[in-house]
Amino acid sequence: MNRKLIAGNWKMNGNRGEAEGLAGNLVALLKGQKAGSDVLVCPPFHLLAPVAEILAGSRIALGAQDCHPEPSGAFTGDVSAPMLADAGCSHVILGHSERRQHHSEPSELVMQKALAAQAAGLCPIICIGETEAERSQGCAGAVVELQLRQSLPIEWANQDVVVAYEPVWAIGTGKTATDDDVAEMHAHIRKLSIELLGAKRGAELRILYGGSVKPDNAADLLRVANVDGALVGGASLKAADFCAIAGSCP
Ligand code: PGA
Repeated sequence: MNRKLIAGNWKMNGNRGEAEGLAGNLVALLKGQKAGSDVLVCPPFHLLAPVAEILAGSRIALGAQDCHPEPSGAFTGDVSAPMLADAGCSHVILGHSERRQHHSEPSELVMQKALAAQAAGLCPIICIGETEAERSQGCAGAVVELQLRQSLPIEWANQDVVVAYEPVWAIGTGKTATDDDVAEMHAHIRKLSIELLGAKRGAELRILYGGSVKPDNAADLLRVANVDGALVGGASLKAADFCAIAGSCP
């Protein structure tokens, strides 16, 4: 069984004071918890440096929510993977459905960003997932398969990568996929990952579930076969809830 990763996606929330307060509370609460899982938080860009200072020396890793595929250049408003590494990040979320939807990011761009992240020594967390319409049309498996094939970087054999399956209709809605649906999709992603990355890396790839993960459903979701952790949005903004999720790992 792979060691679980519990990742918090803070999205576009919080000011500096709130972020520092949240990070400080997480450090304090997780100190008292058995370190049975890896824990990561992903604040907005401008809060990475102050949060990094608070997390220093704790078991909580730092990640960002996006990066540009180029290392530097005339790209106003963008942030590159080497910049994130410089700010103390070890991970970066890529291809989140909110970026695919609001910024029209295709999977090919997600793959380029993932390769840039790996070149900078970061672990990309590649998000994939179907919409409600795609699920009701019965093509969720095919949509997820295409997204995975087109966005998972396979060139760098020794570089870490994580996949997050997040059904779009479950994000921020309070709806979660049933344990059976999660088991079926994660088994599908595992099989494809083994095909794409080879037996060892495919088996070791961490596949997170995301979409309305809360303290009251986390334990059940984290027990499902091939669920190697969670990508948590709303509940990651409350220290007690996020720590309860991290503490739900079997
Ligand atoms: P949610 O968000 O937990 O608020 O549904 C998850 C995500 O978007 O990663």
